[in-house]
Amino acid sequence: MTKELPTNFLWGGATADFQYEGGYDEGGRGPSTHDYETNGSPEHPRHHTMKMPDGRIINPKSSFLDAEDVPEDAKPVWLEDHYYPSHQAVDFYHHYKEDIKLMAGMGFNVYRFSIAWSRIFPNGEETEPNKEGLKFYDNVLSELEKYHIQPLITICHDEMPVHLALKYDGWNSRKVIDFYVKYAKTLFEHFGNRCKYWLTFNEINAVRGFGPSGVHKATGLSRYQAAHNMFVASAKTVSLGHKLMPHSQFGTMYALSTCYPATCKPEDVFHNQAELRENWYFVDTMGRGYYPRYADEILQHHGVKGLSEIKMDPSDKQTLKEGQLDFIAFSYYRSNTSKAGDAWFNVGGSANPYLEKTPWGWGLDPLGLRYTMNMIYDRIQKPIFIVENGMGAIDKPDDKGYVKDDYRIDYLQKHLSAMADAINIDKVPCIGYTMWAPIDLISLSTGEMKKRYGFVYVDMDDLGHGSLKRIPKKSYGWMKHIIETNGKALDE
Ligand code: BG6
Repeated sequence: MTKELPTNFLWGGATADFQYEGGYDEGGRGPSTHDYETNGSPEHPRHHTMKMPDGRIINPKSSFLDAEDVPEDAKPVWLEDHYYPSHQAVDFYHHYKEDIKLMAGMGFNVYRFSIAWSRIFPNGEETEPNKEGLKFYDNVLSELEKYHIQPLITICHDEMPVHLALKYDGWNSRKVIDFYVKYAKTLFEHFGNRCKYWLTFNEINAVRGFGPSGVHKATGLSRYQAAHNMFVASAKTVSLGHKLMPHSQFGTMYALSTCYPATCKPEDVFHNQAELRENWYFVDTMGRGYYPRYADEILQHHGVKGLSEIKMDPSDKQTLKEGQLDFIAFSYYRSNTSKAGDAWFNVGGSANPYLEKTPWGWGLDPLGLRYTMNMIYDRIQKPIFIVENGMGAIDKPDDKGYVKDDYRIDYLQKHLSAMADAINIDKVPCIGYTMWAPIDLISLSTGEMKKRYGFVYVDMDDLGHGSLKRIPKKSYGWMKHIIETNGKALDE
């Protein structure tokens, strides 16, 4: 069966503001939750630098919201002798023209990027948006339009103005729903006639990066209360978006790297079914507009009695029903395994002995992508959109900065072929594919630069040193050929 894709298929790449954009204190941008996160590595997890109420400075030991023993009134701080990768990232803020030209050179017809909430509302509570922030994204959109690349905008990629996180405890507060809807409405009024596809959240099932930079844990009741508030915020936004922009299409993005039973022992298979539901909980609720029948069971795995413990407004049921998603967007990088007795929501999972791994231990599983696409469409009969897939690898440039990344070509060849089979053979409707990430950027999990994903090398090291020069890798020309043949060349 041919790998050539339907003529309207969207090909492109995806990035996130705090990993790519930089310019953290330019153009009136306010501080955002990820701005306080240091660089790290697989051996040394990223952490947040915090000032304790008694004046001591401490480093909560892990990233996201996982720091215990940190009181609520601790404040995130920047320290001279620490490196905070989001501040410069790889400086798309000043390189956007060059970068978009490089994307156009590969034939992209879509580019997924996130808007930094704190660039539009620096502390989240202002009544008027920051004009300079809107102007920056106006410029980005104009540049995309020059090359006939359509935007896919992520309204919120794992971050928020730090002020909202500190004052309201992030998504634990319903107040944040209103701030988010106001922010989204501003984007619709300003960019609505220039953008068809929108994502309300990135990897919503990870519920990460929204607390006061490491102060509160997103576990147990607080994780599911935050998720509920995000469901409501998303649904309100979708309904509003449909009203203001009748042509618009909305998704939310889920991390759906999949999980297999470790063995065919029935107990392992049964455990794995429940493990998968940890993610379906998010997809089902937002894709169908109501909580699934197994919701209480999921909550009980996390020490919560059931939905009755989550604070809801009587109107929420109707809001969720009305604000259903138009398409299901997801990231897929790898697969894991689970077995009876494993901890619930064992995100990293156990390794699969049949799979090779990246240097970061991610199991390479192209068929898992086809499997996942089928699973999603069987479950929610709505079009899907693959908005992240790619391979983090250690690239070794020659003395001219050129990288021969045959391993990345191999990864993409296999994953794109699996995707084409899901579309052409299994008849799964798929709107497009945006590869993570077209230009090298900062890793979310480790904050490293050396975990590179791009078709384009960026001359910068883990501590932000380098010329920031952009140099296309071997995979750049390969991807260009795949796109210009609309996938047909995957057979070559
Ligand atoms: C997804 C995120 O989890 O995976 C991205 O949406 C992230 O922000 C990507 O960068 C790859 O993960 P990492 O940790 O290798 O950057």
